[in-house]
Parts: sequence; structure tokens; C-alpha cells
Amino acid sequence: MPTISRNLVVPLGSKVMQGKFTKGASQGTSLQELSELPAFHVLPHPLPRTPMIEVAHLTKCFGPITAVRDLSFRVRAGEVVGILGPNGAGKTTTMRVLTCYLPATSGEVKVGGFDAVEHSLEVRRRIGYLPENAPLYGDMTVRDYLRFMARVRRLAARLIERRIQEMTAVCGLQAVLGRVIGELSKGYRQRVGLAQALIHEPQILILDEPTSGLDPNQIAEIRQLIKTLGRERTVILCTHILPEVSMTCDRILILSNGGLVAQGTTEELSRQAAGDAVYHLTLRPPQGLPAEGDGRHAALGEVRAKLEAMPGIRRPECLETIDGGRARFRVSADAARDLGEELFRLAVENGWTLSELRREAVSLEEVFSRLTTREK
Ligand SMILES: Nc1ncnc2c1ncn2[C@@H]1O[C@H](COP(=O)(O)OP(=O)(O)O)[C@@H](O)[C@H]1O
Ligand SMILES: [Mg+2]
Repeated sequence: MPTISRNLVVPLGSKVMQGKFTKGASQGTSLQELSELPAFHVLPHPLPRTPMIEVAHLTKCFGPITAVRDLSFRVRAGEVVGILGPNGAGKTTTMRVLTCYLPATSGEVKVGGFDAVEHSLEVRRRIGYLPENAPLYGDMTVRDYLRFMARVRRLAARLIERRIQEMTAVCGLQAVLGRVIGELSKGYRQRVGLAQALIHEPQILILDEPTSGLDPNQIAEIRQLIKTLGRERTVILCTHILPEVSMTCDRILILSNGGLVAQGTTEELSRQAAGDAVYHLTLRPPQGLPAEGDGRHAALGEVRAKLEAMPGIRRPECLETIDGGRARFRVSADAARDLGEELFRLAVENGWTLSELRREAVSLEEVFSRLTTREK
């Protein structure tokens, strides 16, 4: 299936679509139809990118409990954003306000430029929501349930059957369309949940803990499905499971105690949180390390002194000596600079034979636990 992806404004009847337009298999308009549209204007690149979702100073209180406090963030069209936080961080509450299920105590939420309070219908039209415990009707067949949800979401009657077919294909429901939902595995039920969330062709998909309660195979399948769905949509994925966001998301927002504590890509977050970078070097001085005695001590001291004299390097430490007259060193350095090349040059200048030079990555787990508090 060909894909068009460019910034354009297309007059589609009375509706004007603006922004990154990606045409893929599951969307309504065919390429033929698209080419028959009235002339469209290709805007100069880059198009001013209005955010698809804008949350500004959102606060939500339940009586004395402040579940979300002064939260602000934006999501651009086409982004897959992970909201990561321990239980009780305020993820679900934020999503409920975004999807117009709950009113905010204060602050503003806009979706596609529409205010969630004043134009909640427009907001709901744009969002597909898979809540944490998706309420499915257990005694309906999958097909009947999808038909029912399509009608609830006011999909035009003539589009319903085609849309169900599309969602069946995308979510892999062919084998269970005629089965009663209550008898399906949790994995299939999540697929039905995804299909219902997308039945009205929303631009945005919001998923709250989409893999909770699934077994490892089902988790892998659902994550793959989320990745596929994210190619054509704006996605917000809420989870307390770190690998889930690092595997699926372009950008991560970390929430703790109702507030935003960090945001960025996986690499940016790791870099931000790591004050220090750590390098490991295994090297052999020109004549090799003497097997024992003062000579060996002096040789190690000399390497250490050379490392210490290098700007940006701190605390060189010999971890062990190994076969072949080699020694393994560990040095700390400023995380903002990449010192790999300079360390390599230092080795060449001193005639050291390097058999290892590697920068230790600070894991996202470490970042997450540094930034968030424990479960409440
Ligand atoms: N309806 C509610 N009434 C009272 N407190 C609530 C309600 N919903 C959520 N909370 C509280 O708000 C906080 C955030 O909850 P929640 O948004 O569910 O967090 P998360 O989804 O990140 O686990 C928690 O302290 C929770 O107990
Ligand atoms: Mg939750």
C-alpha cells in the first residue's frame, strides 16, 4: 500500500485537514479518491505544528487528595508518547480528564485545538480510549459488540460493516468474530478493546496499562499491535512498566505524585539523569605489566596519573589486572562530553594497547527510580 506523507492542507468537503497526513491501509479515503479532490495547497515546509494535545496547568483534586497537580505537556500529531509513573502517580486521572470523563479542577485541556469542556463532543470524536479495565459486554459476540460501539460512536451506518472488517484485520480478530466476548482469552479481549477504541477512526489513541494481566506472549503481541497502530496515529500509552515505554514510544513523560518530573527520549532521559558517565578501559602498557613487585606498582601508578591528568576525567581506578600484562581501569567523566576519542588518543600517545574501551550506559531503570517515589 503506498503511503503519502507530507505536510498539506486538503479541503475535504467542509472539513479541512491540516498537518502531517499519512495515508495507509486502514483509513477511509482511497488514493484514487484523494487524487480526485479539488486542488490542494502544499504548504511551505515546515508547517507550523500545532500540538494535537495540549495540557496546561492541569490540576485534579478528589476532595482532600490532589491526584494531578499543575501538569503541563504537549503531544504533536503522529507522536507516540509514553506516560510512565508508579501506581498512584495520576496517569489514569489525567487520561480521564483528557477523554472528558472527568472535569478538571483547574487548568486547560485542548485536543485538536478544541477545549475539553466547551467542545467535549469534538474532543471525544478525536479520541479512541482503551481504559485500564476495559468494560466489554461479556455476553455479546465480538461482531455484535463492535457494531454496537460503532453506533454508540455515531459512525454512519453505511460505514459500519467496512470499518468492522478493517478493525478485524488490523487487530487480528478474524478467528473470534462470532464468539462471545466473555469466553475469550485476556489477550483477545484486549484486541477487542483496541478495535472498539478505534472503530470511529479517531486520530488519537489513548491506552491505559494495555498489557496488565496478560501473559508474556500476549504482551509481546499487544506491544507489536500498538507499534503498528502508532504508525498512523497519535498515541498516548500510560504504564508503570518501564520497558513498555522504552520499546514502543518516541518520547516519555515521567509522572510522580501527580506532577511531571522529566520528559524526553529514552536517551535524553538517561543522559539527563546521569551526572557521571563511566568508561571502562582494558589496556596493556608498552612492555606489559611486570608480573609483580615495585615495577608493577609503578607501571599502574603511571597509567593512573596519565588518566587523571586528562581534562574531564575523574577518579581513575584499577579494577583488576589480567593475563598478558593487562589492566582494567574504570574512570568517571562528565556525562555531557563524549571522551571516547580522547581516551583512545591518550592510549596511542602512551603506547598502550587497548583491548577494551566502552562507555557504561546508565539504565532507564535507574533514571526512573531516581525520579519517582515508591508506590503509595
Ligand atoms: N475517584 C477517585 N476518588 C478519590 N481518589 C482518587 C480517585 N481516582 C484516583 N484517586 C487517587 O488519585 C491518585 C492518582 O490515581 P491514578 O490517577 O489512578 O494514578 P495511576 O493511574 O498513575 O496509578 C491516587 O492517590 C488515587 O488514589
Ligand atoms: Mg492507572
